[in-house]
Amino acid sequence: MKVIGLISGTSVDGIDAALVEINQSEQSIQSIKLNFITGKTFPYDRQLRDEILAVCAGEPRSIAQICNLDDAIANAFAQVANQIIDVTQIKPDLIASHGQTVFHRPPIESTLGYSVQLGRGAVIAKTTGIMTVSDFRTADIEAGGQGAPMVSMLDRLFLSQQGKHTVVQNIGGISNLTYLPASGDQVFGFDNAPGNVLIDMASSKLFGVDFDRNGELAAKGNADLSLIKVWLAQDFFLMPPPKSTGRELFCPSYLEQILSQCKHLSNHDILATLTEFTAKAIAQSYRLFLPDFPDRVLICGGGYRNAYLVKRLKALLAPALVMSTDQVGINSDFKEAIAFAVLGYLTFHGQCGNLPQVTGAKEPKVLGKIHLA
Ligand SMILES: Nc1ncnc2c1ncn2[C@@H]1O[C@H](COP(=O)(O)OP(=O)(O)O)[C@@H](O)[C@H]1O
Ligand SMILES: [Mg+2]
Repeated sequence: MKVIGLISGTSVDGIDAALVEINQSEQSIQSIKLNFITGKTFPYDRQLRDEILAVCAGEPRSIAQICNLDDAIANAFAQVANQIIDVTQIKPDLIASHGQTVFHRPPIESTLGYSVQLGRGAVIAKTTGIMTVSDFRTADIEAGGQGAPMVSMLDRLFLSQQGKHTVVQNIGGISNLTYLPASGDQVFGFDNAPGNVLIDMASSKLFGVDFDRNGELAAKGNADLSLIKVWLAQDFFLMPPPKSTGRELFCPSYLEQILSQCKHLSNHDILATLTEFTAKAIAQSYRLFLPDFPDRVLICGGGYRNAYLVKRLKALLAPALVMSTDQVGINSDFKEAIAFAVLGYLTFHGQCGNLPQVTGAKEPKVLGKIHLA
């Protein structure tokens, strides 16, 4: 099957599209083989991005405005799929679209979680003429799960290595990991830290740029370690997995609180402090929650392009070998889009896509809604 996977993550930087060919020789999903044909990121236009960020930040909108935003996002996703089809001249069998998360509330005790992805699949199916799977998180949440992280299935299928405790560390807006033990099948994972979200918000507020390119701004500053120590004692970091988070926690007012404690620091020092905080939060989560410290850490997501953040991670995670998933055969920029392509493929074949030991769901579920073209 040829499948286009589509996602825009919590960074709200743009829509990632991956066209993959998926072959399966036997009944077991372990026999799935992936061929990555192409991937491309299509930035959101500024107006659409601003509206998404406003909704994520909890600004009030009417239901009608939310519906219009849902369709605007769906149309943007459909156009992306159509562009991939135009360029490659390959018509996929299926589109698997994660959509854009605008709200995520983890489950609390017996209250189910709630996670809203806009960009409805029906519009994508109608506009492209291709069957579309969307709404991947709901079934897991209905089974009591966090609905996140969902990429662990892909990590388990393609990135574990016998004899090496492996962490697959995605650094998107939020950081999430999959832990793949050296032997056995005790895979688990969780949202473990902020990713680029605080660095991006501070870059925008203090320097007027969308992100800290290659970490150059942070590299010019000095981190205030005493502040970081206090921040790392916050509830989210000490709460045991399963857990998930989003822009609801790491929101503009969270940054404001942080900035109010940074009045003695230069803008470069503030970015250095936030970058060190992000790296330390990731490293602390390994020490607190993983059964074994990893031998190797495979990074993916835009955070891998922040050279200063990666340098700090390498230092904090030593002696683990830190590299990108590119070095083990999975494109690090498009791993999430590839993951949703695989999840859509599983759904089409009536196979479950969540890992209950990761999300906390009570059972495996066939994920998503199928929209016929
Ligand atoms: N060259 C770069 N230097 C530093 N950070 C980068 C670079 N390229 C991308 N990023 C970061 O990666 C983010 C996008 O990462 P991505 O994996 O798409 O996150 P998400 O899954 O949340 O959309 C950007 O917002 C930016 O913070
Ligand atoms: Mg992105």
